[in-house]
Amino acid sequence: MLNSVGRSARCGHPLHAFATENKKHFGSQHAFDQNLLFTFIDRARKLGYTLGMVKGDSKRIVVVTGIGDFKPSEIKAVLKRRDAVAEGLRASGYDVKYFEIYQDEFFQDKRGAISEIKKLSPDCVFNLFEGFCGDSKTEVDLVRLMEEEKMPFTGNGSSALETCLNKFTTKKLLRENGIKVPSGIQVKDPADIEKNGIDFPVFIKPIFEDASLGIDKKSLAADKEELKGAIEDKLRQFPRGLIVEEFIPGREYNAGFIGGHPYELVGLSVLDYGQYPECDNFLSFKAKWEARTKEYKKLIPDILDEKDARYKNEVVEISRRASKILGCSCYFRVDCREKGEELYILDVNPNPDISPDSGFVRQANLKGLTYDQIVAKIAHYGLKAR
Ligand SMILES: Nc1ncnc2c1ncn2[C@@H]1O[C@H](COP(=O)(O)OP(=O)(O)O)[C@@H](O)[C@H]1O
Ligand SMILES: [Mg+2]
Repeated sequence: MLNSVGRSARCGHPLHAFATENKKHFGSQHAFDQNLLFTFIDRARKLGYTLGMVKGDSKRIVVVTGIGDFKPSEIKAVLKRRDAVAEGLRASGYDVKYFEIYQDEFFQDKRGAISEIKKLSPDCVFNLFEGFCGDSKTEVDLVRLMEEEKMPFTGNGSSALETCLNKFTTKKLLRENGIKVPSGIQVKDPADIEKNGIDFPVFIKPIFEDASLGIDKKSLAADKEELKGAIEDKLRQFPRGLIVEEFIPGREYNAGFIGGHPYELVGLSVLDYGQYPECDNFLSFKAKWEARTKEYKKLIPDILDEKDARYKNEVVEISRRASKILGCSCYFRVDCREKGEELYILDVNPNPDISPDSGFVRQANLKGLTYDQIVAKIAHYGLKAR
């Protein structure tokens, strides 16, 4: 994009005059950074220049989604997100095509999906595929195939996705690399807790889920009896295994990033549970998703601003280090909580939800980025990174 603008200005393109006039606002061409470029495009658009004129040659982006055995409301959400992303891409002048991966076909022939995508001649795939129910590794499979084919795509690579799918492996890797994580054990059978000395309170969560699935009142256990009850209950729902770990009681932070290491910080929030004694002091499923509950209404993260500079720097620093260790790139979110003065990483989410009303997007909006800019930044990274 940078080159397109530069080239346009040099060769007498209609935007030349606009670029020259606006030098005082945007600096020299060489000083353009990506944010300035987006501002430039917005201004140009307001003055009636079309995006084709701004962008020059238009790259084709194929937006890929998965349609599986989902509830109708889930399919609606997938398509709504896809359409929002496509609109954001079109606003930046990209030529956008869609490709839907259907569950049965994908299970029969994974490479077939890649061949079909290739027929659409993408310069980049905008990967919104989250895998299919019952086999979350399908998300990794698609990305691995795109890597093998050297097909540019947005989002995280297969290695980061695969590591972060398993919360226990993620913790192990972070601990081995000097990052503080809650100490804990893997539980696949109720007998596993007898083999280990456990300090209470503990937190119990599924190893292979996200979005607070399986996180409810029973996730916080104060003694062995509560722990046993929770384990029996949760293993029935999540037979692939649980983590039982130290409960980290302090404020919770969430940082959102875009790009490659050292990563651009696009959102930072804090939740101080001390202010809501009437609510659970963790983000359960209902706190994230059930709009009628008091937890949903009250537990709303605040933006961590400059007043909290010390925390801000520490949260950003530890989140960046953890993400680098896990090989994250393009866009992701990191959760951590504090115990005393120390920060503990709880969870790293590569390819988080980027629906217009998602936490990632709301955080980035508060940092001054529009939805179109967020989508364009992600696409820009996908196009140039691989
Ligand atoms: N060890 C812990 N101590 C305290 N709270 C925790 C711990 N682990 C998870 N939580 C709480 O549960 C929420 C969801 O857990 P998390 O590991 O982030 O999984 P998910 O992938 O479902 O977001 C967190 O946002 C946090 O509020
Ligand atoms: Mg989380």
